Amino acid sequence: MPILQNISILYTCRDEGGQPDIHPIENAAIAWVDDKIEWVGKKSELPEKYQSAETFDAGGKIVIPGLVDCHTHLCFGGWRADEFEMRIQGRSYLEIAKAGGGILSTVKATRKASEDELFEKAAGLLDEIHRQGVTAIECKSGYGLSLDDELKQLRVYRRLKKESPVHIATTFLGAHTFPPEYKENRQGYIDLIINEMIPAVAEENLAEFCDIFVEESAFTIDEARTIFEAGKKHGLTPKLHADQLSSGGGAELAAEVGAVSADHLEQISDEGIRQMSEKGVIGVTLPLASLYTQQPYLNCRKLVNGGVEVAVATDFNPGSAPTFDLSLAMMLTCNHGRLTPAEVLKGATIYAAKAINRDKTLGSIVPGKSADFLIIDAENVNEWLYHYRGSRMTFGFLKGKRFN
Ligand code: NIG
Ligand code: FE
Repeated sequence: MPILQNISILYTCRDEGGQPDIHPIENAAIAWVDDKIEWVGKKSELPEKYQSAETFDAGGKIVIPGLVDCHTHLCFGGWRADEFEMRIQGRSYLEIAKAGGGILSTVKATRKASEDELFEKAAGLLDEIHRQGVTAIECKSGYGLSLDDELKQLRVYRRLKKESPVHIATTFLGAHTFPPEYKENRQGYIDLIINEMIPAVAEENLAEFCDIFVEESAFTIDEARTIFEAGKKHGLTPKLHADQLSSGGGAELAAEVGAVSADHLEQISDEGIRQMSEKGVIGVTLPLASLYTQQPYLNCRKLVNGGVEVAVATDFNPGSAPTFDLSLAMMLTCNHGRLTPAEVLKGATIYAAKAINRDKTLGSIVPGKSADFLIIDAENVNEWLYHYRGSRMTFGFLKGKRFN
């Protein structure tokens, strides 16, 4: 049972209270047994039984829970640097998508790649993500858009779960967009999702969540409602890409179907905020997508004031957010989302864990939870996100084991 001590401030990030309440303890220590936290408190109050434990020294730095990236599209074929250049030259994300680029160009590359190739690539990326302090991650399909290719992506995640120490939650996103072969037959593709994909995903237990890109250019509210109902019958919990490019009632649908989170939300309506707050739907902000697509940022302050708990994630994907730098997403949420560093830290830990139904086991430093925490070379949480230079992690623990 090791201990970590010489911690200047430990931000426990317990769930109690609101967005700004990260429950710091000064001059703290943590004790854990195997992969679970057993004791957290002031070093001066460390129980006798831990006094002779193996000791790690935090060097007087701050400690935070392992970061949770609750929205990524980790597994994909190819990249889209050409679109990056086009957007800089003035073409919009939507224009590029309509011209056959965008999601569909990644679908082509993902279909072409073998499961092994996709696995190698995703495993390399995940390793790098982990070394920046992410200890739990959500991963979506959605670049296959056929039965076999969606399953292929989800099987990559199943292999990652076995081979990586990082906690992984998986999401079926067959309803990301319509594949070219169903361009003129929307109902045909929806039937395929409902009658073949969802049952197959459930049969192999390949996902916990069903996500849908609800947007004028993708799935309508009514189409999404039917798909969510089918997903729920097979045990898949709804999640949404909602109100990103237009305010189309996505947040309201999230509340109606009992979604665990609604993500993006840049164009959310006041009524959407009200309904999400009433139903306890987590709002996930994805500022890196705003940065890269030159779209407005979500005003997170408005959501928090309206009673919505806000989580922060990267949306890592080859198109709208081709970086997995969660610390950068956090800094942008301060500057553009108008949340304080403390509020943002809560959004990348316990609230992010809530957005993937992992808040009973992850996301805060409390006894009984997974021993996942990071030593950050900063004076306090304000100074950390103010002087942005990557994660600033010196080392961390995942499931009680040291990394970096
Ligand atoms: O979350 N909005 C839809 N899906 C992704 C973009 C995927 C892509 O461009 O490949 C997103 O931003
Ligand atoms: Fe996304």
